Amino acid sequence: MKLLVTGGAGFIGSNFILYWLKNHPDDHIINFDKLTYAGNLENLKSVEDNANYSFIQGDISDPEAVTNVMAGIDTVVHFAAESHNDRANMDRLTTVLTNVVGTQVLLDAALENGVQRFHHIGTDEVFGHIGLEETRKFTEKTNYEPRSVYPASKAGADHLVRAYNIAFGLPVTITNCSNNFGPYQFPEKFIPLTITNLLEGRKIPVYGDGLYVRDWLYVEDHCRAIDMVLQKGKIGETYLVGGMTELHPNIEIAKKIIKLLGKDESAIEFVTDRPGHDRKYDVDWTKIKNELGWAPQHSFDEWLEKTVSWYRDNPQWWQRIKSGAYEEYYQKQYEDR
Ligand code: NAD
Ligand code: DAU
Repeated sequence: MKLLVTGGAGFIGSNFILYWLKNHPDDHIINFDKLTYAGNLENLKSVEDNANYSFIQGDISDPEAVTNVMAGIDTVVHFAAESHNDRANMDRLTTVLTNVVGTQVLLDAALENGVQRFHHIGTDEVFGHIGLEETRKFTEKTNYEPRSVYPASKAGADHLVRAYNIAFGLPVTITNCSNNFGPYQFPEKFIPLTITNLLEGRKIPVYGDGLYVRDWLYVEDHCRAIDMVLQKGKIGETYLVGGMTELHPNIEIAKKIIKLLGKDESAIEFVTDRPGHDRKYDVDWTKIKNELGWAPQHSFDEWLEKTVSWYRDNPQWWQRIKSGAYEEYYQKQYEDR
């Protein structure tokens, strides 16, 4: 099989490529990535000489580049996106061009080239948010109610993917997953930001009251879920993917990481809240469990310990990122909070 992975130099995309080449060594992968600030080919150093892997730099919203790379592809796994809420609120045009227009350009090329599967990586944020006091969870039937730029653009992409299936018969599947964490996550996201700030002796910026809740999914569990959907998922279907949710608020997660690193809680700094900050996400993954037999492999605490160890053991990976342009972003994002 020949796969086109978009955004394969990012966090989840690179974990997926490493996972796929290990578990399906006869398949060929083309990684198509623009290499924005979030793209990092260092994540893929261990496979760069693998004859079944190649990298092409390009933009998913460029129809000519996408048409060229789509030739001979059986399966598209579409990760490429502007994925960070704080940046999406700042750079709205780029977010919509990549997340919405880029997805449409890919869908057209996939249709023209008769690909056998277009798998789209969606987010649980398209469903809006849940009140802290509510016990409901997101399911495949929950209405779309995105509340800021990033989830609104991802909602647009999901609708386009479904429309290409219904209107033109493109064989698609979608997974909407919760917050991923694990190795190679860009340290703008909460868990790697917290770990690396603590390792550098910096404060941890906690937004608002810190009582925001996410449904944490270890990236390798996510990659296995995508694999199962590619192998056994039904065309036209959506599957929600989440973690072993224990509903820890952000402040508790910060404290867990502080404890794992033997640091002090005085590192916590409450800062001005994010605009349109969603209160809680909680994903019901019964459908993928019952229909495809997927479940996360370990608890949140076990995966968190493994993640903290990875960042502690790989300082050269994140120290390189956290210099130059990253520091400029950090100052802009956090200086007046
Ligand atoms: P990331 O920001 O780490 O990586 C995104 C990758 O896409 C980068 O390599 C970047 O260079 C590339 N890219 C950006 N714009 C591009 C363009 N125009 N053309 C080609 N490549 C481009 O993101 P991630 O966290 O790995 O997320 C991957 C996907 O999973 C996204 O679609 C995101 O919406 C979705 N998702 C992420 C999470 C999460 O917790 N990280 C949760 C749910 C869904
Ligand atoms: O739910 C899935 C989504 O999870 C994905 O679709 C997105 O691509 C991914 O970025 C993530 O979105 P979040 O906005 O939830 O992730 P982030 O790591 O930015 O924030 C997690 C929580 O931590 C959220 O409540 C905001 C809070 N936070 C975040 C940062 C960066 C802080 O308190 N301080 C911070 O400095």
